[in-house]
Amino acid sequence: MHIHILGLFPDTFDTYFSQSLLGKARAKGLVTFHYHQLRDWSHNKHHAVDDKPYGGGSGMVIMADVVCAAVLALKKDHQISRVVLPSPAGSPLIPAVAQRLSCEDSLLFVCGRYEGVDQRAIDKVVDEEISIGDYVISGGELAACVITDAVCRYIPGIVGKADSVENDSYQQGLLEHPHYTRPEIFEGVPVPQVLINGNHAEIKKWRKNESIKRTLERRPDLIDRIKGAKPMSNNQGTTKKANNNG
Ligand code: ADE
Repeated sequence: MHIHILGLFPDTFDTYFSQSLLGKARAKGLVTFHYHQLRDWSHNKHHAVDDKPYGGGSGMVIMADVVCAAVLALKKDHQISRVVLPSPAGSPLIPAVAQRLSCEDSLLFVCGRYEGVDQRAIDKVVDEEISIGDYVISGGELAACVITDAVCRYIPGIVGKADSVENDSYQQGLLEHPHYTRPEIFEGVPVPQVLINGNHAEIKKWRKNESIKRTLERRPDLIDRIKGAKPMSNNQGTTKKANNNG
């Protein structure tokens, strides 16, 4: 997978992409990262890329000609299979979207700033718009990082055991169960007994049950989407109630 990032702050990515899971994936040659400065395609002598919005209003809009020139040039020089614009107006980043994008050979993220990108450039050169959540952040860079990380987790060989992607929160439509590690008792609070008795069938059942209970407490909207999932009766272990949300 080749990840290309086009934006005004291309230097901001490398620190994150060279660490941990993605850093190792890059070292193994499973993923490559390429950064491109949008200003390089500005026709303006001051390298401006934005202008005032037609119709008035605050903020600036990234100009269509700059974005189109940049994307077309990058598509010519590199084999880009899909162009993604991170945007609060995009479709939500759900596991199925990340999984689908992980099957592409190469992605180009177009990172906007200010009020966004001229719609004509989006219509002409962008394949899809993706939102990382119902809030607005200052630009597409952080969102491109989030999407890249979520996508790369589905590339075979990047996450250690395929199993740990399978069990991720949301993967089964539920939030993930809680995790514990040593010490067995921390400040008087023991690890749930079921996790240390070595009975794998019981552990599996407990985890599923915790997953459902946690989802019911924190994200009942997700439960509505899953047909037939109900908490199993189980008196093993302990369930710590969510702190703030009753
Ligand atoms: N750019 C600004 N806010 C965003 C969001 N929520 N998702 C994707 N890109 C964004």
